[in-house]
Amino acid sequence: MNPLIEELKDLSRQALDAVQRAGDERALEAVRVEYLGRKDGRISGVLRGLASLDAEERPAVGAEANRVKQLVAEALETRAGAFSHKAARAPGLDLTLPPRSPWRGTVHPVSQVVDDIWQIFKSLGFTRARGPEVDDEWYNFVALNTPLDHPAADEQDTLYLGPELLLRSHTSPVQIRTMQAYEPPIRIIAPGMAYRRDTYDATHTPAFMQIEGLVVDEGVTFVDFKATLAEFARRFWGPGTRVRFRPGFFPFTEPSAEVDVKRVIVRDDGSREETPWIEIMGAGMVDPAVLDNVGYDSERYTGWAFGMGPGRIALLKYGVPDLRLFYENDMRFLGQFAVPRGGAS
Ligand code: PHE
Repeated sequence: MNPLIEELKDLSRQALDAVQRAGDERALEAVRVEYLGRKDGRISGVLRGLASLDAEERPAVGAEANRVKQLVAEALETRAGAFSHKAARAPGLDLTLPPRSPWRGTVHPVSQVVDDIWQIFKSLGFTRARGPEVDDEWYNFVALNTPLDHPAADEQDTLYLGPELLLRSHTSPVQIRTMQAYEPPIRIIAPGMAYRRDTYDATHTPAFMQIEGLVVDEGVTFVDFKATLAEFARRFWGPGTRVRFRPGFFPFTEPSAEVDVKRVIVRDDGSREETPWIEIMGAGMVDPAVLDNVGYDSERYTGWAFGMGPGRIALLKYGVPDLRLFYENDMRFLGQFAVPRGGAS
């Protein structure tokens, strides 16, 4: 046998052995270069020597060289396949990097407050109602006993979209729509956005959340209202919470009130801490004119209503100094109130 064929067989044994011993991709690449490398590869070297062989010896040696080359190449391939379980072979892809943690949406802090408020009223027998954010003058003002020359109806205060069309300036038009659609007894909570031409500052935004409440039935009195509100406040802020009613004015309630709460925190050692009085809503007994406007018998039915600002309540609850933070959607801010979705129903 030609000594070159001997040498090739020997090289192939060594190469296959080296392939098996290679512990990682780098070692494997070194084996490839050593045996199959174009310039200094040992098997390639033998192939280059073919030229100096006699013509009749060439075919056999050449065939053997190609067979060995093929064999070693396949062995390299197989071995590389074993490593690819540990790391993908695509350049620039490092599968050892920790994965990005999946992004989880959370409930907006104002929505959390709305949910908490809703849960309390739901347990008191209220249902939820809603109405359109684009409404007309009749629902937003006229039906609510507010004449169109009232300052609230002025273009200075309300965002008009057309001659009679506007962005509702409060959630009170939902009172009208609900009473038109249902007969008493009514007991609803209607959270939603409201819009005003307000300055944009720490306590005002032109778009804000409001929660409307409305109760209408026979024999409903101001005492029912006070008791319901006191119960709500104690459940929301704690048992020591105090509620205060100040006289107010709204065209659609008579009498009207502004409602303040004061939290009284009693510590384990008996010491007390009181917050200042904080205004949380406008409210009052539904004006009989409003009941007439929806076709209710105002001799038979009475009711009370309120409009609450959950944005303000969220400010107080979380100690946030500026209302604008709630509406600018900076994830670094909102992410701090990380309650996963689906908490409340
Ligand atoms: N709609 C009033 C406001 O936006 C609040 C309110 C609602 C007052 C219901 C009384 C009754 O200021």
